[in-house]
Amino acid sequence: MACNPEDLIAMAAGAKEKAYAPYSRFQVGAALLTAGGKVYTGCNIENASYSLTICAERVALFQAVAASEREFVALAVVGGDLTACFPCGACRQVLAEFAPELEIITGQPGGTVHRRSLKELLPDTFTLK
Ligand code: THU
Repeated sequence: MACNPEDLIAMAAGAKEKAYAPYSRFQVGAALLTAGGKVYTGCNIENASYSLTICAERVALFQAVAASEREFVALAVVGGDLTACFPCGACRQVLAEFAPELEIITGQPGGTVHRRSLKELLPDTFTLK
C-alpha cells in the first residue's frame, strides 16, 4: 500500500470532523486510497428525511469516481469512538462495483488497526457479470 493503514485512518478521522450528523450524532469519516496513490475522503451527510442520508464510504467513493478514478486499493473508516466501524451492507455492495478486491481498514488513530477484505465482508457479491 502506497500509504500505510495508520495514515489512512488518520485521514478518515480528519474527514469525520466534517460529518453532518445532527440526527444520529454519529459521525463517520472514510478515506479511499486509489491505485495511483491518491486519497479521497468522505463523511456521512444526514437529511431530515432520514433515508436520504448518505454514508461516509459512499461519499468518498463517489468523489473519487466523479474525479475519473476507477481503481482502488484500500478504504479506511472511522466511526464515532468505536474501536471498529465496518461499512454497512449498502456501502459494501457499492464498493464492490468498483473494487471487489478492496481492503477495508477500521480503527481509531493510535489504536488497533482492524483489516478485512471486501470479499470477506460481502461474500457471493451480486454482479451482472
Ligand atoms: N454511517 C456511515 O456513514 N457509514 C457506515 O458504515 C454506517 C453508518 C452513518 C449513517 C448515519 O448518518 C449514521 O452513520 C448513523 O447510522
